[in-house]
Amino acid sequence: MKDIGLIGLAVMGQNLALNIARKKYSVSVFNRTPDRTQEFMKNKVKDEEIAAYYDIKSFVESLKKPRKIILMVKAGKPVDEMIQELLPYLDKGDLIIDGGNSYFKDTSRRINELKERGILYLGMGVSGGEAGALHGPSLMPGGSYDAYEMVKEILLKIAAQTEAGPCCTYVGNDSAGHFVKMVHNGIEYAIMQAIAEVYDVLRKVLKLSPEEIGEIFEKWNNGVLNSFLMEISYKIMKYKDKETGKYLVDLILDEAEQKGTGKWTSQTSLDLGIPTPSLNLAVEARTLSFFKEARVELSKKVTKTYPSIKVDKEKVINDLENALLFSVFVSFSQGLWLISEASKAFNYNIDLSEVLRIWKGGCIIRAKILDFLRDIIKENKENVNLLNSEKALSFLMDKIDSIKYITNLTKDFYLPTLVLNSSLDYFLSMIEENLPANLIQAQRDFFGAHTYRRIDKEGIFHTEWEAN
Ligand SMILES: NC(=O)c1ccc[n+]([C@@H]2O[C@H](COP(=O)([O-])OP(=O)(O)OC[C@H]3O[C@@H](n4cnc5c(N)ncnc54)[C@H](OP(=O)(O)O)[C@@H]3O)[C@@H](O)[C@H]2O)c1
Repeated sequence: MKDIGLIGLAVMGQNLALNIARKKYSVSVFNRTPDRTQEFMKNKVKDEEIAAYYDIKSFVESLKKPRKIILMVKAGKPVDEMIQELLPYLDKGDLIIDGGNSYFKDTSRRINELKERGILYLGMGVSGGEAGALHGPSLMPGGSYDAYEMVKEILLKIAAQTEAGPCCTYVGNDSAGHFVKMVHNGIEYAIMQAIAEVYDVLRKVLKLSPEEIGEIFEKWNNGVLNSFLMEISYKIMKYKDKETGKYLVDLILDEAEQKGTGKWTSQTSLDLGIPTPSLNLAVEARTLSFFKEARVELSKKVTKTYPSIKVDKEKVINDLENALLFSVFVSFSQGLWLISEASKAFNYNIDLSEVLRIWKGGCIIRAKILDFLRDIIKENKENVNLLNSEKALSFLMDKIDSIKYITNLTKDFYLPTLVLNSSLDYFLSMIEENLPANLIQAQRDFFGAHTYRRIDKEGIFHTEWEAN
């Protein structure tokens, strides 16, 4: 009898199965299309204790009771379909773990539906891509604590290991795990876009080659910006296409795809009323990129007058590093605020410091700056908005002139910087005592009698604006 079962042998499932087996647990695997299973068993499995099954019944019967089954299938309908296929063969007390990028509301629904049948269910965010799945991902399981206890030992062993412990923790109740993974991806979108905008300035304003940009990114990666995304970006810059000998990044079409987690983060932030403009604008930037044909046409119709002034290369590079740090900090700050608000709204009971700890290794947004964020959160656990900390304010104020300079410079050169701009504007909004929202309220009251409050007396007011 096998310790655990895994369904879905695409890139993530294959590597996760190998990871589990290499930690000396026996694994049964199943995939809807048998060819994929055969190929996996033939080409990837060596000495690992992995057994393949080609029908669900024998797959389930091969597992020790209470059974533990990880689903690594495409998010959405396939998860529901797999659950339906499994149900006839499962017993009360068995556990299903959905390791895909499922929408958190689907996970809540599944937890409740399965609870009625006595089946336990965990919604587990898995980050780190192919390499993470194999060598140690960041794992974000959520659901009932009883369910977590059943697989805790395995999860802690297969997760990435850092000096702060394994990158896995019980994230919280209900769909907390998938919620945290969704916001992780929202932050990921924002940081990726901020790096891309910085790259755009380096190539179009300073006219640097990919190799030179790679050198700068590599240097930054040795400092405060040290992170997985910075590391892969410098490696991408230096990579030459085998076929043409040219830098591959220059040959890639500028249309950025998306699978939905970034969009869900934005939609959820709007629903919960928590501002996450940097995360939202990163999604918009990908959407905008898809209008390639229109962009090409429009670019031919306008004349851009570039400034004649010569820019100071060293200053621009230095300010770009600070601007990127500013934007990365603000993106994390927005995402964490969203998580903490959701934790209250949905009774997740999430420990933000633990979330930051398990993002330190394995996952795509792992970064040196996480230690700084954890310090801020440790200061005051109730401080869900990081900006309330003196340390955060001085970190950002230290860099504000740089990001102001860079966002102005990019406009002189007609360059869009949706995430850098929105990070700065978010901060400026948060530190502004008087926003022009008084005029918005007056307009709403003018056309819709929506009423307004006053700063000089209590109460709700309406004015007949054209009565005089
Ligand atoms: N790729 C990444 O870097 C990454 C990182 C973190 C999380 N994730 C998440 O992890 C999950 C797996 O990702 P992936 O990239 O490995 O694979 P994927 O392309 O998202 O999904 C392919 C897998 O789903 C199975 N599948 C699709 N429809 C099915 C259905 N109706 N019934 C049963 N099985 C079905 C496929 O089986 P067939 O072989 O039969 O088609 C295949 O095993 C996804 O939720 C993904 O969002 C991916």
